[in-house]
Amino acid sequence: MFFNGSRDPFARHHPLSPHISCTIRQAVREDLTALYQLEERCFSGDRMSRRSLAHHIASPRAIVSVAVDAEHSDIAAYILMLSHAQRRDDRLYSLAVAPTHRGRGLAGQLLQECERLSHAPNLYLEVRTDNDTAIALYQRLGFRETARRKSYYQDGMDALVMIKSKSQ
Ligand SMILES: CC(C)(COP(=O)(O)OP(=O)(O)OC[C@H]1O[C@@H](n2cnc3c(N)ncnc32)[C@H](O)[C@@H]1OP(=O)(O)O)[C@@H](O)C(=O)NCCC(=O)NCCS
Repeated sequence: MFFNGSRDPFARHHPLSPHISCTIRQAVREDLTALYQLEERCFSGDRMSRRSLAHHIASPRAIVSVAVDAEHSDIAAYILMLSHAQRRDDRLYSLAVAPTHRGRGLAGQLLQECERLSHAPNLYLEVRTDNDTAIALYQRLGFRETARRKSYYQDGMDALVMIKSKSQ
């Protein structure tokens, strides 16, 4: 899939490349180092290890989609979705967009890709209660809050559980 983002608000923040083109594809083993570096750039805690990332890339129960910047051929963003034999719903486990590529709708593109690939009736996710940008994005894309998990993250922050029904 070819995505050509041209929302001006971001251009101001990143004069280097007013237009960004990304290709979305499934991650492969060779992407491991780039994915781990993106994890380090985007999360200050609760980071996945290289080992976990490698496990998910190889797992038939996981979808790891990456957005590759066409100009620089580097990974600009990724999303990880897990499906579980016993669970009806698929879980959006992680989503990260490189700071240089934010504000372009790339997260929305990756979420739509997961919705397209998911066979479950619902998608759910956990998000830090202080992550206003992500919460606003998920609400904009049709997710609604269903529960809270106390002290869910390593630093004791609570999590919001949000869900979206495919039938919506
Ligand atoms: C949350 C996140 C995935 C959003 O990705 P994205 O591709 O930038 O999403 P969007 O393009 O839809 O932008 C979402 C909001 O980011 C903000 N934004 C805009 N430009 C931005 C920029 N240059 N840098 C940072 N944020 C910006 C805006 O508030 C925008 O909302 P708006 O479109 O209503 O103005 C991304 O900020 C990220 O990776 N954050 C760190 C990791 C994380 O929190 N992941 C989610 C865990 S649950």
